[in-house]
Amino acid sequence: MEKESKSKELLALLEVSRVLTESFDLEKNLTSAMRTLSELLEMQRGCVYLLDPVSGELTIVAAHGLSHDEIRKGKYRIGEGIVGRVIETGEPMFVPDIGDEPKFLNRTGSRPDKDGISFLCIPIELKSEMLGVISVDRIYSREHGGVDDDIRVLGIVSSLIAQFVGLWRIFREADTERKELRRQLKDRFSIPNLVGESQKFQSVLKMVTKVASTDATVLLLGESGTGKELIARTLHYQSPRAKGPFVAVNCAALPENLIEMELFGAEKGAFTGATERRIGRFERAKGGTIFLDEIGELPLSVQAKLLRVLQEKTFERLGSADPIKVDVRIIAATNRNLLDEVRTGKFREDLYWRLNVVSIRLPSLRERKEDIPHLVTYYLKRFNRKYKKNIRITDEAMKGLMEYSWPGNIRELANTLERMVIMAEDDLIRYHDIHWNSIYSKDTYASGMTSAEEKTLSCEVEAIERERIINALKENNFIQSRAARALGITPRQLGYRIKKYGIKMNTL
Ligand SMILES: Nc1ncnc2c1ncn2[C@@H]1O[C@H](COP(=O)(O)OP(=O)(O)OP(=O)(O)O)[C@@H](O)[C@H]1O
Ligand SMILES: [Mg+2]
Repeated sequence: MEKESKSKELLALLEVSRVLTESFDLEKNLTSAMRTLSELLEMQRGCVYLLDPVSGELTIVAAHGLSHDEIRKGKYRIGEGIVGRVIETGEPMFVPDIGDEPKFLNRTGSRPDKDGISFLCIPIELKSEMLGVISVDRIYSREHGGVDDDIRVLGIVSSLIAQFVGLWRIFREADTERKELRRQLKDRFSIPNLVGESQKFQSVLKMVTKVASTDATVLLLGESGTGKELIARTLHYQSPRAKGPFVAVNCAALPENLIEMELFGAEKGAFTGATERRIGRFERAKGGTIFLDEIGELPLSVQAKLLRVLQEKTFERLGSADPIKVDVRIIAATNRNLLDEVRTGKFREDLYWRLNVVSIRLPSLRERKEDIPHLVTYYLKRFNRKYKKNIRITDEAMKGLMEYSWPGNIRELANTLERMVIMAEDDLIRYHDIHWNSIYSKDTYASGMTSAEEKTLSCEVEAIERERIINALKENNFIQSRAARALGITPRQLGYRIKKYGIKMNTL
C-alpha cells in the first residue's frame, strides 16, 4: 500500500517535470501540470496563482477543473483569504474541511457544497522571491497517504514550477526584446529611410519594392558608398524573410584560403587543426538572407561552389559528402564591372548570369545631384540630434556641396557633414567651413563633364589614391594590414590596389 502510493507519487512528479518542459507556453504547461495532479494523485481543482509584482495581485494563470469564468474570478490580494495568507507568510497551509473555515473565501464560486473537502495551499518560491502559490482540493479517505505526504509532494511540484516560471520569464523578456529589436530594424531599413527624390533613385526604389517580396537573387551594382549594403538590408527587412537572419559576408575581407570554409563550413577533421565542426555562413543564414558583398573578389574555385548553390540549392561542408539543403535568399554586390571580369576570365560567366536574375544599379551621387539637398537635410538633422546641436547651412555652402563630384558618394557626404557638425563654431555652416577632408581632392568637380574630362578626373583620383597608399605603407613600416586599417580598407582591397597601381615596395 505504502509502496504503491510512493511509486504513484514518483510517476506524478516525473510527469509534472515532463509537461513543464513541453513548450514555452506558460498557461499550457501549468494547466497540464495541474491536470497531472488530478489524474494521478486525485488532487482536484489544482490552481496556479502568480503574483503580479506591480499590482500586488494574485491571479490564477492556470487551473484544472475550473471553468473560464471561475478562473477569471480567482483574484486575491496579499494577505487576503488563505491563498493571500500563504503568499504573505511563505508557509504552506492545510484546511481540513473548508466548510468549517471562515477564511476560505471560495471566490471562484467553484464549490457549491464545501463540506468534507480539504484544501492545500503551497507557496511558489524562487531564490527567496515569492512568485505565487499552488492550491489543490482533496477529499481524504483511508487509502490516501497523509497530509504531510501531500505537502511534501506539492512542495516538489512547486519548486519545479518555480524553476519553469523563472526560465519562462527570462525567455519572455528575451523574446519581447528580440521582437522590439526586429521592429526597430524593420523601421530603420525601410523605404522611407532611403533618401532621394530624383527619378533615377525613385526607379531604384520601385525595383526594391517589387523584388523585396520575392525570393529572387539580386545583384546590386554601384560605386563605393552608393548604398549597396543599405539596399541589401532593406530588401531583407522588407521581405517575408525579415524574421530570419541577415548574414553579410565581405568576400574581399576574408583571406582567400578561408573563404570556402567561412561560407560553407567544415566538418571536424576536414583539415589539420579542424578540431571542431564549423558552421558556415550559408547555414547560419538559414531562413534568411545572405549578402555576398564585393562578390567580384571571390576566387574562381569558390565561384564554382557558389554556382552549385544557385543551381541546385545544396552544398557540402568541407570534408563531408552529405549535401545540405539551402533555404537562403542570395543578394550580391560589387563595385566592379563584372562583365569586364568575365571577359578577362576572372569571373565565371555562368555564375554572372545566375546572379544577374535581377540587377539593380545604384546611381552615383553625381548622377543625381538634385538629391544632394535632401541628403544634406537628412544628415544634418541626424547629426544635430546625435551631437545635440542645431546647425543650419547657407545656400552658398549647399551650392558648394552640390557642385562637388562626391567620388565617395553618400558615405563621403555623410562623413563630411558629420565632421562639419562636430567642428562647427556657431550654428551656421558657410562655404569656407566645408572640410574637404576626403582622400579625394576638393577640386575634382564633375558637373557637366565630358568623358575626356571624366577620364582626367579618374586619373587624378587614382594618382591621389596611389600617393595615399604609398604614404600609409611608409608610415606603417610596410605592414600591409596596418596600412589597410589606417586607410580604412581591407588588406585584400589594399593588396588589389598595390597590384593595380604597380606599387613596388622594395623601391619605395
Ligand atoms: N539613399 C540613401 N539615403 C540615406 N543614406 C544612404 C543612402 N544610401 C546610402 N546611404 C548611407 O551611405 C553610407 C554608405 O552606404 P553603403 O555602405 O550601403 O554603401 P556601399 O555601396 O555598400 O559602399 P561600398 O561599396 O564602399 O561598400 C551608409 O552610411 C548608408 O547608410
Ligand atoms: Mg558595402
